[in-house]
Amino acid sequence: MKILAIESSCDETAAAVVEDGRKVLSSAVNSQVEEHRKYGGVVPEIASRRHTENIVGIVDEALREAGCNLEDVDAVAVTAAPGLIGALLVGVNYAKGLALAAGKPLIPVHHIRGHIAANYLAHPDLKPPFLCLVASGGHSHIIEVKSYTEFSVIGKTRDDAAGEAFDKAARAMGYPYPGGVFVDKAAQKGDPAKYPLPHPKVEGSPYDFSFSGLKTAVINLIHNAAQKGQEVDTDSLCASFQKTVAEILTGRLMLAADTYGYRTIVVAGGVSANSGLRSMLENACQEQGYQLYMPPLNLCGDNAAMIGSQAYYEYLDGQIAGLSLNGTASMPIDQPLV
Ligand code: KG4
Ligand code: ZN
Repeated sequence: MKILAIESSCDETAAAVVEDGRKVLSSAVNSQVEEHRKYGGVVPEIASRRHTENIVGIVDEALREAGCNLEDVDAVAVTAAPGLIGALLVGVNYAKGLALAAGKPLIPVHHIRGHIAANYLAHPDLKPPFLCLVASGGHSHIIEVKSYTEFSVIGKTRDDAAGEAFDKAARAMGYPYPGGVFVDKAAQKGDPAKYPLPHPKVEGSPYDFSFSGLKTAVINLIHNAAQKGQEVDTDSLCASFQKTVAEILTGRLMLAADTYGYRTIVVAGGVSANSGLRSMLENACQEQGYQLYMPPLNLCGDNAAMIGSQAYYEYLDGQIAGLSLNGTASMPIDQPLV
């Protein structure tokens, strides 16, 4: 079964054709990051406008690269939640139009379910159940993936997401948006033990995260040094910050795996591209004898291939939307979209 998938929940306009949930026939992504960079973050209104301008071309590109036209695909899938509402609506409405015009089923996909499914594209042997850490710009979750379409959240952030903390700390250090990747590069040249940083815990919730205090600690450290006329070793601050985030994420994930009895561990979302997190998880999982699956770097960030993968399993589960489908800005992962 070939699915044409569309993703427009944030600042990437993307389309892909995916076969049977596992094989990427094409994946086209148009990133707006350069344009948002000058504002220090995504400007929702600009994102919506660019999606509107780019969506026709990006869908055509995905179909062309896959060597098919709309008649050849068996269904149209789209990210319907969560995300920036104006941005989501561009993809949802375009997908509705295509599905109606071609007489194909319309499959709505939850963006975070899509991030998890990126791993199905890279790892043919991976099947639920497993325990998944999702760390992106908007989410930090520890999730039980009980089946392809059944999820249960064990822990989540109480304030900033991991990627958001990376981006805010990066900004304080003078890096452009989104700063996660710059922190990662600088960290490789620094001393991770130079600046001890707090490991904030959430009282009574051992699997929840709180990154806001860690981000503030970095900002305070920079301000205090400036007031005293002291130089900050930015590479080492990046290394210390990255190590702390990786320790927090890895620690809670390993605790959850132990308590809930999972031996298969999966990571997803933009922050899963982080080299420090990847190597810490590799070591921790090797030590425990857990099987670890991570997406390749090109599938960590937002793309439509991951949406096409998850859509296949949603389709098998009967998740077909009517033309009343709406975009939804916030939606828990465990709730069906239809
Ligand atoms: O999943 P994603 O592409 O978009 C959302 O759904 O949010 O994640 C984007 C986030 C940004 O915060 C970005 O800085 C972060 O992922 N990120 C990284 C790295 N690459 C991307 N954070 C740390 N290290 C990286 N190498
Ligand atoms: Zn995302």
